[in-house]
Amino acid sequence: MLFKILVILHTLGATVWTGGHLILAVTVLPEALKQRDPDIVRQFEDRFEEFGLAALLLQVVTGLWLTWIYFPGFQQFWAFDSFLSVYIGIKLGLLLGTLALAIHARFFIVPNLTKETLNSLAYHIVGVTTFAVLFVVLGAGIRLGGLS
Ligand code: HEM
Repeated sequence: MLFKILVILHTLGATVWTGGHLILAVTVLPEALKQRDPDIVRQFEDRFEEFGLAALLLQVVTGLWLTWIYFPGFQQFWAFDSFLSVYIGIKLGLLLGTLALAIHARFFIVPNLTKETLNSLAYHIVGVTTFAVLFVVLGAGIRLGGLS
């Protein structure tokens, strides 16, 4: 029962994190770039930031918990000798990439966001969104017993 609840919560968090970033990258960002108006992105971020971060935190907690159930004590996990541990390992790599991009954007680009730095923010948004979609692809791959 716990396992099922964790998978449902993990899937729900994925809809928020990945869905939110897809909306940002596909609808909000192009409009901001067209009008050269950073405020359009800022308005979205103001509303989405806390909810989105809560969803990412939920993903990390439920994701690690699920991993703990598959690999009690993370014992066999680090051997990376099954598709499951390889896929989860890639997800941890995506997590590090996401955190690096998000921290760089949040603390170095967003505070002085101007027309000139909008392009740089755009690359970050596209990067985080690509990682968000890859999280879902790999997650579905885990459920499907591998993607090949
Ligand atoms: C934003 C980040 C993430 C997203 C969007 C995401 C998305 C998903 C999705 C859509 C699934 C398929 C659920 C299903 O139908 O079974 C999944 C499964 C899974 N994810 Fe994530 N994930 C994220 C982060 C993580 C992290 C950080 C870990 C752990 C290190 C993790 C570990 C797992 C595991 C173990 C499963 C398999 C659960 C199962 O048996 O179905 N995920 N993920």
